[in-house]
Amino acid sequence: MPVDLLLSNGIVIVEGREAVRSVGVSSGKIDGVYDVGSEPAATERIDCEGLYILPGAIDIHVHLRDLGESDKETFETGTRAAAAGGVTTVVDMPNSKPPILGKEDLEGKIACAEIDRYVNVGFYAGIPKKAADFDKTMLPQILGMKVYPHAPLDKGTRYTKKRALECMKLSAQHNIPLLLHPDAAPRTKKSKTLSDYLLLHSCESEVKSLKMFLSVRDQVRGRLHVCHVSCGTTARLIAENRAEETLTAEVTPHHLFLSGGGFTHKDGTAKMLPPLRSPYDNVALLEGLTKTCTIDCVASDHAPHRKDEKTVSFLEAEAGTPGLETTVPLMLTEVFKGNISWIDYLRFCCSGPAKILNIHGKGVLTQGYDADIVVVAKEEWKIRGADFHSMAKVTPFEGRPVSARPMITIVEGNVVYDRGEFLVDPGMVGRVPVRKVW
Ligand code: DOR
Ligand code: ZN
Ligand code: ZN
Repeated sequence: MPVDLLLSNGIVIVEGREAVRSVGVSSGKIDGVYDVGSEPAATERIDCEGLYILPGAIDIHVHLRDLGESDKETFETGTRAAAAGGVTTVVDMPNSKPPILGKEDLEGKIACAEIDRYVNVGFYAGIPKKAADFDKTMLPQILGMKVYPHAPLDKGTRYTKKRALECMKLSAQHNIPLLLHPDAAPRTKKSKTLSDYLLLHSCESEVKSLKMFLSVRDQVRGRLHVCHVSCGTTARLIAENRAEETLTAEVTPHHLFLSGGGFTHKDGTAKMLPPLRSPYDNVALLEGLTKTCTIDCVASDHAPHRKDEKTVSFLEAEAGTPGLETTVPLMLTEVFKGNISWIDYLRFCCSGPAKILNIHGKGVLTQGYDADIVVVAKEEWKIRGADFHSMAKVTPFEGRPVSARPMITIVEGNVVYDRGEFLVDPGMVGRVPVRKVW
């Protein structure tokens, strides 16, 4: 039987090393990774000579907006950005308009994503003010519960130890991770100056918030996932409490590679939450990711905003930056520079995120796994926001040289994106919602 698609003569990572192989795909799954010359017959063939054949990245922290915020991003533009960026699975955050706190709003979002998707899309839900009111019928359709201690998701909810315990208990009871945006800043406080803002959302605040959740995690043995760790001190706290089954963490490329001192902060280009920190934090985070295994994965926190919301003064600007089209190029550039090993890259961009959320059959390029693949060229280019498929064009990585470019993106066996062109219509390819294994 011929395979549906053969990616021939590409560079595949075998036991941590580059090796020339071909990859066969049939019925949406990886049929095999073959030595050159031993490939089966194929209905379709793509010559990948000189190109890297890798598992598509899994980005477990994105804000795809749409619905009441389709002026910022839609499922169509956001998942096009993912496909163009070599990301084959995204997991969407619930601080949307409307916020995802019940089945009806979740189903509305799923219906919207089904029509407009280009990649696999999973979802999270928030926890209502009264945790006991959590709508359990959402559980088969979500991959985690999110604590975002700011409006609109948690409007008016105070994050006391009691509330943290309720959230942790609820997620533990349903064997689903609790994702924490760690920040203890009082929600009512408004910053009048840049230093106000930085003090309000300081490393101390990040650590304080995490400490509170760690203390309650120990009581219920729930699974806590720390979003966008931005400080060396937070990484140290995680290392001290490390337990793979109950404490996991992610880092964004902007917190790994950028520091606040590199920007004027005249406008909102480099405004995000948590804020950019110091070069010391950059080093500590990279160590946490690659040396001490404190941080399990890289996630973009793709947070699109309109250009006019980013180009006003820093204090007036919205916080957040697009990341779906820069994560894979930035991370692979570090691999090509020799700063990150292939094994680490595959762990924290592909298999690690799948493991955290209990997503079965994704994140590894091996027989029987879903054929979610990206073909990458080792090529020098510069990041330009204007070229993004995302509606958000303002990036703090503007002009940064990178040396990896996603060329072809395959989702469950279908070629979705090929060198700037989209080969399928929206809503035809990709799983919505991505479910966990129960
Ligand atoms: O910078 C951020 N933007 N941080 C967040 O936690 C939320 C996000 C957004 O939704 O815009
Ligand atoms: Zn966050
Ligand atoms: Zn976020």
